[in-house]
Amino acid sequence: MRLDKYLAESLGCTRSESRVLIRKGRVTVDGAVCKKADAQLAGGETVAAGGRPLAHQAFVYLMLNKPTGVVSASSGRAGETTVVDLVGAAYPRRQLFPAGRLDKTSTGFVLLTDDGAFAHDILSPRHHVPKTYTVTLDTPLTDAMRSGFAAGVTLADGQTLAPAQVEPLSPDGLTVRVTLRQGVYHQIKRMFGVYGAGVNALHRDAIGGLWLDKSLPAGGWRELTAAEKGAITAAR
Ligand code: URA
Repeated sequence: MRLDKYLAESLGCTRSESRVLIRKGRVTVDGAVCKKADAQLAGGETVAAGGRPLAHQAFVYLMLNKPTGVVSASSGRAGETTVVDLVGAAYPRRQLFPAGRLDKTSTGFVLLTDDGAFAHDILSPRHHVPKTYTVTLDTPLTDAMRSGFAAGVTLADGQTLAPAQVEPLSPDGLTVRVTLRQGVYHQIKRMFGVYGAGVNALHRDAIGGLWLDKSLPAGGWRELTAAEKGAITAAR
């Protein structure tokens, strides 16, 4: 990676700001002043700006607790708030996007990242990363739903889905846990729709083996630790 890019990502500044620092001789690579913005870093070097060693993150991974009414996208229509808007100005140089969408009315765990390969890895049906939801129904769970989900529901448009799990969380069968390994548009609502059941609320609790931090308020977010990132893909 070029030195000016590395510096901009580490400091959260623009490339031109990082080039000014480099030109002024404020940047060292392994202790030696480097005045070349296009110097290539192999990885493993110690880069310092103004004498302060920098911690460089190649990519950002955020856990966000999406509130209802917010759109799972990088940019929305006029007047809409997106999940990326909620993170605000904290990562001005990063092209963050949600790795997997929730409906506007749904709530819960959205993973925001700028790591396209990782996002592809967790979204690809081939990789089978499970997503776990708490769903509130307008009619109780039935045995037909449970066996149908396990076998693979055929939607109204003829599409047969991969097997999924559903289990009751409340004695009245109105609150259920659903686990999917696929991401089809409005999937859970359409699956219950096949059985004439409506979804009143839908909350994503987990992506892979990583559960939403219960201390995050609606709209709150934080960076993942390396272990938490690993837990996402460990559960497939
Ligand atoms: N399935 C849905 O129907 N909606 C969501 O937001 C997620 C899964």
